[in-house]
Amino acid sequence: MGQATSSNLGPHVYAIADLSYRQMMGQERKSQSILISGESGAGKTESTKIVMKYLTTLGTAHIGDDGAEEKAGDMSIMTKVLQSNPILEAFGNARTLRNDNSSRFGKFIELGFSRSGSLLGAKIQTYLLEKVRLGFHASGERNYHIFYQLLRGADDDQKKKYNFHDGDTHGIELVNYFHYTGQGGAPSLREFTDEDGLGYTLKAMRSMGWDETKIDSVLSLVAGLLHLGQVNFDSVENDAGQEIAVISDPRIVTNAANLLGVDEEKLRAALLERILITRGEAITIQLAPAKAVDSRDALTKTIYGALFLWVVSEVNKSVIWQNESDVRSSTGVLDIFGFECFAVNSFEQLCINFTNEALQQQFNKFIFKMEQAEYEREQIQVSNQDWHEVSKVSYMSLTKTYYRRFFLFCIITSNDNSGILFPSLTTKIALIQFRVSQVVSWLCLMTNVG
Ligand SMILES: Nc1ncnc2c1ncn2[C@@H]1O[C@H](COP(=O)(O)OP(=O)(O)OP(=O)(O)O)[C@@H](O)[C@H]1O
Ligand SMILES: [Mg+2]
Repeated sequence: MGQATSSNLGPHVYAIADLSYRQMMGQERKSQSILISGESGAGKTESTKIVMKYLTTLGTAHIGDDGAEEKAGDMSIMTKVLQSNPILEAFGNARTLRNDNSSRFGKFIELGFSRSGSLLGAKIQTYLLEKVRLGFHASGERNYHIFYQLLRGADDDQKKKYNFHDGDTHGIELVNYFHYTGQGGAPSLREFTDEDGLGYTLKAMRSMGWDETKIDSVLSLVAGLLHLGQVNFDSVENDAGQEIAVISDPRIVTNAANLLGVDEEKLRAALLERILITRGEAITIQLAPAKAVDSRDALTKTIYGALFLWVVSEVNKSVIWQNESDVRSSTGVLDIFGFECFAVNSFEQLCINFTNEALQQQFNKFIFKMEQAEYEREQIQVSNQDWHEVSKVSYMSLTKTYYRRFFLFCIITSNDNSGILFPSLTTKIALIQFRVSQVVSWLCLMTNVG
């Protein structure tokens, strides 16, 4: 009977993490990349967490070459790095029909180690948060976990502070009362309750060193967006005989503005008006009710997107290594969201699927290359198949098409006419171009194009 070795067994998450650490500690101190791919629910995020746990554990109790424990790394760094997961999952994961804890963003986490193998910290990059979910989610699905955690887990003081008045809901559970959380029936998660989820998120935020004021401002923004989703519009006729939107209940806008920390009048204008600038002249157009609803949801997406990026940058500040020059080698782990195909697919989903497809090609390229090299070593005759060249041509044309579509897509989805977030159209376009070039260069990097 043959013996089980790493070459005749399938890939195993601990074996891969272990090999990665050994390579980093080898003579050449080679940095590593681990790409975790698979369809939604396959276990990518759980595997990423196992890799992180394994590597951070080795990096905090490093065993020297002579077998003696050389020096214990900083335990608090390990805790912080691992505690980044509950925070990112609260803000970037949601329940879907396939997975109760589906990642709706891509994540690349780089763990940095010293020459002696001690963990120095981590750097997290995120990609393509699914913003469509903020305004709409299908039956049986949910919006981002943090909304449900706050609504179900808030204590009496928080309920008062965030204006979650049970009395106003006519007996409907808060999560089903709010428009942004109730569209899919607000199912609970199977593995833990949302009340517990809030506990995990708060614990993680505190272990990052966030004080209560900072935590409260984050939760206020989350509550503010929930109230923003409650703003509805009535239709009235203006002097020119056009149907225009008016806010049905002005108290809700007051509520949302207070929690979001923005000027109430500006928020009202952002919801009801569009400003067109032609030849330096600003023209205010009053929106029809359906357009005002789009405007409300676009504002929510923009604010939540900015909040998510801010949360990631704050997490990074807590976990990043102090001196770049101390990092001798690193392991990067890529946990991308899974391929999915819904009954109705947004352009955003197309982008997600495209990225996955690109990653799959990358994976194929290496596997086939390795297989071919093995055949050559064993002198087995097989026809030579150049996988890289085949995919390169199709990706080059696809990437160009996607560049153009991304550009349009960003303009369409960031329907911010308030001037609060983007002061001028020129700045807005420059920002969009910058973001698009970031995404495209990342796609090119992943596909080895250009
Ligand atoms: N190694 C594991 N041990 C225990 N449970 C697991 C493991 N891997 C996956 N699971 C279970 O499967 C669920 C889905 O896993 P995970 O969230 O990692 O999937 P995913 O591939 O990241 O999906 P998505 O693309 O939707 O983010 C987990 O919530 C957990 O219940
Ligand atoms: Mg995941």
